[in-house]
Amino acid sequence: MEQREDLKSIISYLPVVLRSSTLFWPSAVVEAFKALSKGPQHSNVDSGQLLFLAISDIRNSLSDHTPLASSAADGFSLFFDDLISRAEANKWFGEILPALADVLLRFPSLLEAHYNSSDSVNCLGSRDGLKTSLRLLKSQEPGIVLLSQELIGALLACSFFCLFPNSSRGANDLQVINFDHLFSSLYDNYNEKQENKIKCIIHYFERISSSMPAGNVSFERKVLAVDQTLDYIPSPEAEAWSKSVVSLCQFEVCSSGLIEDHSTEALEVDFANKYFGGGALSRGCVQEEIRFMINPELIAGMLFLPCMADNEAIEVVGAERFSKYTGYASSFRFCGDFLDKKDTDIMGRRKTRIIAIDALVNPGKRQFLHEFLVREANKAFCGFSDPCKSQSYQKLFKDDHLLEVQLDQGYKCVDGNSDNVLFVGSQDEVGIVTGNWGCGAFGGDPELKAMIQWLAASQALRPFVVYYTFGLEALQTLDQVARWITSHRWSVGDLWNMVVEYSSQRSKRETRVGFFNWLLPLLPSDDPMILDP
Ligand SMILES: *[C@@H]1O[C@H](CO)[C@@H](O)[C@H](O)[C@H]1NC(C)=O
Repeated sequence: MEQREDLKSIISYLPVVLRSSTLFWPSAVVEAFKALSKGPQHSNVDSGQLLFLAISDIRNSLSDHTPLASSAADGFSLFFDDLISRAEANKWFGEILPALADVLLRFPSLLEAHYNSSDSVNCLGSRDGLKTSLRLLKSQEPGIVLLSQELIGALLACSFFCLFPNSSRGANDLQVINFDHLFSSLYDNYNEKQENKIKCIIHYFERISSSMPAGNVSFERKVLAVDQTLDYIPSPEAEAWSKSVVSLCQFEVCSSGLIEDHSTEALEVDFANKYFGGGALSRGCVQEEIRFMINPELIAGMLFLPCMADNEAIEVVGAERFSKYTGYASSFRFCGDFLDKKDTDIMGRRKTRIIAIDALVNPGKRQFLHEFLVREANKAFCGFSDPCKSQSYQKLFKDDHLLEVQLDQGYKCVDGNSDNVLFVGSQDEVGIVTGNWGCGAFGGDPELKAMIQWLAASQALRPFVVYYTFGLEALQTLDQVARWITSHRWSVGDLWNMVVEYSSQRSKRETRVGFFNWLLPLLPSDDPMILDP
């Protein structure tokens, strides 16, 4: 019953029609998909130009008539008629497009099956079995949506055909989910990175049309409680940071390598925009957008996850990787198929955990102010927190319990009152894999951000941070500094207080050097271990 309510709450964001509790496509749309599914001999659709005409016809049979990006038609034509080879185009129109039309024909029944089967899961600690059905995961409401990879495939096919209604998205803090801007940007301002982004998406469709993956992907909105009466993880006050006696976790520095290639299970940080996905479906091509292109199932979250507030993060578990790539920003290139060999968990999700946290945008001098240090630390803490440890955190943040809390104990995710609740394993081994969060386009200070992420991971009781520096010069001594700090057995509070002192001096212009030099003035040195702050 409740699941039906969830369906009603999101139906205005979906292209299908709901009548007398049945979901369906209008009959003209069914006819169009049937023709497409039989291939170009039946549909006549054998070029990008004709494909866009077919898309426009289908859209005319749907209720939302908001115009698409004006150069979308030219973008489809440019990509499918000029940029890819004739052989690739033949395969696309002869095999892949018909398979996508089949998936779209099944979309209403896939949705029905989803709403009929959504079991509740218990992975958010002590609360009762959570609902997992597709609905808007609104701001300030923690929640989780679990989708099959097949349903995600159908949703992304709807995006490709530009079928989602657009009218109420902006007003509800949701980005455009159709692919019209992806294609119009290709035409308006041709560049190879945009072409290669589309190649990743097209490759994904090729893969799912030859073999539909059978797993699940979950999307979760994590929210820190600003109001102490809520029973979820509390938002740390500045005082909780400065008084924290939690030990700093292990910190490993890698000067080469990439977050997404990290082999063991970890929370892999998405240097996110507050709108999940950032410019993935328009012109963007930095860390977050690249991840969305190589793991396109992430895009599905853009459908139902409105803008993040300061006390929120988004965690996605199970998104499969389909593409290899090289480069970054304008040098980004698709370079072939990627076979994702990650294990799956009990819920059928790949053990790939992606955590989206949005850093301050262009913070400049502001980032050294106390208020903004707390903002960044809490944002990272929200992302890094493990919902199963909610009660440990609540104890940690109560002053009078600080010294007696049993840090290594943790709380198990068990459910007291239900038999059909899934147990989702503890995350005791799951650390954080990250890098220069908020330091590229967003302009944050890399030394400060590295320390803040270390503090947040430690306070969230994570076992380790692996930090990929991406070769950033400012972080050449990060490894030495981290080893020095570790050897002095500082607590979270100790490091926090140093960061605060430094930042205060920095904003008063009493120091102009970076945090590492301020802390250890004799760096770089052959033997930093003999230094004292
Ligand atoms: C995916 O989730 C559904 C609903 O919880 C479940 O019934 C199904 O078994 C899961 N799939 C796999 C492969 O575990």
